[in-house]
Amino acid sequence: MATVVLDEVRKSFGSVETIHGVNLDIQDREFVVFVGPSGCGKSTLLRLVAGLEDITSGDLMIDGNRVNALPPAKRGIAMVFQSYALYPHMSVYENMAFGLRRGGASNADVEKQVKEAARILELEPLLDRLPKNLSGGQRQRVAIGRAIVRDPKVFLFDEPLSNLDAALRVQTRLEIAKLHRRMDATMIYVTHDQVEAMTLADRIVVLNAGNVEQFGTPLDLYHRPENQFVATFLGSPTMNILDATLGEATDQSARVMLPDTGDVSVAASVQGMTPGTPVRLGMRPEHLRLADANTADFSGTVDVVEELGESHLVHVIVPHGDRIVVRATGDARVKEGENVGIAFDPNDGHLFRADGVSLPRTGPASETDAPLPTQH
Ligand SMILES: Nc1ncnc2c1ncn2[C@@H]1O[C@H](COP(=O)(O)OP(=O)(O)OP(=O)(O)O)[C@@H](O)[C@H]1O
Ligand SMILES: [Mg+2]
Repeated sequence: MATVVLDEVRKSFGSVETIHGVNLDIQDREFVVFVGPSGCGKSTLLRLVAGLEDITSGDLMIDGNRVNALPPAKRGIAMVFQSYALYPHMSVYENMAFGLRRGGASNADVEKQVKEAARILELEPLLDRLPKNLSGGQRQRVAIGRAIVRDPKVFLFDEPLSNLDAALRVQTRLEIAKLHRRMDATMIYVTHDQVEAMTLADRIVVLNAGNVEQFGTPLDLYHRPENQFVATFLGSPTMNILDATLGEATDQSARVMLPDTGDVSVAASVQGMTPGTPVRLGMRPEHLRLADANTADFSGTVDVVEELGESHLVHVIVPHGDRIVVRATGDARVKEGENVGIAFDPNDGHLFRADGVSLPRTGPASETDAPLPTQH
């Protein structure tokens, strides 16, 4: 059992508070990823859990025990950093054995633990090598091995893959996913990379300026972002956001008026809001299609076409001057300067209040991540 609970955790450096009362309830064996813009507090939060920084106020519980005052070595955690800093003059084996020997483990124990970690990480053929004779990905695996041999209850990773090239990142990402399944340990993982976050996480914490914006499953965050920050932070290219005005609405659907562009329907509940209220319409590029004039919801002029092979990103300037990015199929033929129509399904729309808080979605798209009904 290794739950990690943060209760109103705050951190100040001098007089500046950088973590503003964070509450998180991380379950045993959960894989939780922290994402957020640079400087939002991801590393600081991880370092507070590790005990590398003191908590200014609030409680940190690991496995049900308050550990605020425990030194890092007594918390049952192991941390892996972006810069893996292996001892250059020691073999892979000795790098992994170092912490255990220092902790007074017997040679037999050291050998057992190191061999087991090497097996898990497929480092067995490399145990006698020096770090300089390893690839970046192999060195990062040794750094993870040093964490594994300590048999921690909780693994903390701070951007462990960011020094690796694209192909190695993908490979090592898969290894970390496998490691999580094999180790049955709780893992907290910081990354800038959305794909890492979406593919590795059981749940994602989106941080912004020292606050938690949302804590939920990857699909929850994608389909039901609680606010515009989360909606636009996850997804690439980012969600299109247009200023609009609320029109007529029912419980299930609202008309939204866009300046100079026309009206569209969105499957969202705007209960209690009066027509004429300013709102924002959110549409993900992958949910828009190029369409001919009579089926289109909007039209505009193509500004730029980015060809990605399997799809094109078509940047369209609508009459009001806003830019809408459409992810079109790879066989779509459009040219810069051309007039195009854009179609979108009301069920794919997101609606935000003027303060950025999401309005509840009512269409089937919002149910995508709901638990599957029991099969009989
Ligand atoms: N030791 C420190 N003293 C003063 N301020 C600090 C200290 N460590 C971090 N900060 C500040 O706390 C804030 C959060 O920093 P942190 O390193 O946690 O961000 P981050 O989300 O990990 O960013 P990045 O994605 O760039 O790694 C920043 O404003 C940073 O300048
Ligand atoms: Mg950081």
